[in-house]
Amino acid sequence: MARYSRITGTGSYLPPRRLTNADLAAELAAQGIETSDDWIVERTGIHARHFAAAGVCSSDLGVEAAKKALEAAGLEPVDIDLIIVATSTPDMVFPSTACILQNKLGMAGCPAFDLQAVCSGFVYALTVADALIKSGTATKALVIGAEVFSRILDFSDRTTCVLFGDGAGAVVLQASETPGILASDLHADGKHVNILCVPGGVSGGKVLGDPLLKMDGQAVFKLAVGVLESAARAALAKAYLTDADIDWLIPHQANIRIMQSTAKKLKVPLEKLIITVDQHGNTSAASIPLALDTAVRSGKIKKGDTLMLEGVGGGFTWGAVLLNY
Ligand code: UT7
Repeated sequence: MARYSRITGTGSYLPPRRLTNADLAAELAAQGIETSDDWIVERTGIHARHFAAAGVCSSDLGVEAAKKALEAAGLEPVDIDLIIVATSTPDMVFPSTACILQNKLGMAGCPAFDLQAVCSGFVYALTVADALIKSGTATKALVIGAEVFSRILDFSDRTTCVLFGDGAGAVVLQASETPGILASDLHADGKHVNILCVPGGVSGGKVLGDPLLKMDGQAVFKLAVGVLESAARAALAKAYLTDADIDWLIPHQANIRIMQSTAKKLKVPLEKLIITVDQHGNTSAASIPLALDTAVRSGKIKKGDTLMLEGVGGGFTWGAVLLNY
């Protein structure tokens, strides 16, 4: 019998500290940096973001999202036999945030590892978990996107620091006799490393290079709009479906203009576009599972709906996962 994977539970978590654009603009003004609610809303669609308190790590946010996904799936931590955490803001250099999170969930024994594909991390992680389930290596996986991007923001650079937030989202992906995940399409092109990166690293007990986020926003914008359409079309073709079959489009939540332009290119009506960037900002690998969980819990997404998930970001990486929820 064919073996597929299917999402059986979703969860998400946002740290309590919420900053509106006005709150952030006031904090930046105190440092002599000028920005405004009008500029941020007009260029990005972002109204607010959440920042984790000092000492709160990606694993702390991820574990809360994972607990909710487990509860929604009717499972206990002990039932899980694979953990993948997509993050670019790990708790430590090593061990992986996935191992730290596994211990915080009170579990031991199952494989746990991090996956680093920046804002495409969740679609990459979902694709890897799907493959491990289809191969029989795993049966019940926790796939988590968790980020504390506030830790790597340069608050003297107004072109980037207003864009990002912290948060986590998780799904339980289980072996199933019916699909589930219908198709994936993943890509990377390392020649664009420098348009979105944190160029610092640890060496000899010191940070070498700049450990804060750098982005050429316009270059990222142009690339993103093109690849989000092509990845979605490739995933649809692999599943012998068309854009008319998409019930809900859940792109990476970075900029409302990129998301709306992708929806238009895919001929997906704007009412079928899931939007959380307005309240969360860009939470990198956490943005898609956060948006998915928000739409599931609000009752928008129902069992049996066809979902197109799409990531794009540093690397340059991009990809799509088409699934039956
Ligand atoms: O997660 C990975 C994916 N990342 C993305 O998808 C990000 C993609 N890029 C973008 O979303 C957009 O390029 C941005 C939102 C980053 C920037 O929007 P833009 O329309 O490309 O603006 P811009 O960079 O061309 O800047 C326009 C003006 C500039 O002033 P001048 O040179 O025209 O006088 C900037 O200095 O806006 C100015 N500006 C700001 N003004 C107020 C830049 N940042 C700010 C700010 N507040 N925060």
